[in-house]
Amino acid sequence: MNYIKPVTLSALALIASFSVYADDMQAKVQAYIKSGFHKGKNQDPKRLEQDETLKVCSETRGKVSGEQAKAIVEREKATIKYPANGILMGNWQKGKKAFTDGFAMRIGRYEPDAPDKVRGGNCYACHAADPKELAAGNLGTNLRGYGKIRGNTWDTVKYTYDKIYNAQSVIPCSNMPRLGHNGVLSPEQIADIVSFLVDPASPVNK
Ligand code: HEC
Repeated sequence: MNYIKPVTLSALALIASFSVYADDMQAKVQAYIKSGFHKGKNQDPKRLEQDETLKVCSETRGKVSGEQAKAIVEREKATIKYPANGILMGNWQKGKKAFTDGFAMRIGRYEPDAPDKVRGGNCYACHAADPKELAAGNLGTNLRGYGKIRGNTWDTVKYTYDKIYNAQSVIPCSNMPRLGHNGVLSPEQIADIVSFLVDPASPVNK
């Protein structure tokens, strides 16, 4: 029976070295990603740093516990800002542009953007919406007929605004970028996009 002790001890040592190894690997991966970005004027590497939510999602590979999920939703909900006039439906024509424009925070882009540069959400990269637009990705849900299916009630409008502002306030570790929270879209642009999705006059609902 004497051999049990050393075996148990070395198993414990192995487990401990694995967790040190995992931390070390994580640091190496972060450093490697950082090295892929050009250093230079106006380059902003801050967005490579993971916040609390992204850290938890990476560490668990998106399989968060019930408690972690609750903490993420609470934290992310608290970040949501609404337009100054409090109106969450804007102009669908403007929303169509903000939905389509691909000028979001692309990897490798120099920041800050010129002040007159309007960013878009590049939503077609992941979602179908206007049936006339055929170049659409399918990582996200198909949004064709969104307002026709959901109705344009306050609940739908509020849900849609919150989802676009901060996708993780609805689904923890969502693959959808937090477009308002990360400053890609302004609250007004998000309200315009809500209209593009919900307004019965929008091509999305034709
Ligand atoms: C990188 C891919 C990606 C991009 C870009 C993206 N989304 Fe999403 N979106 C998703 C995924 C994936 C879901 C499914 C649920 C989830 O994981 O949150 C989703 C869900 C949604 C939903 C909820 C749909 C439902 O059936 O309840 C809405 C609304 C939405 N996205 C709107 C947008 C808008 C508007 C934009 C652009 C401003 C956008 N998304 C950009 C990936 C994306």
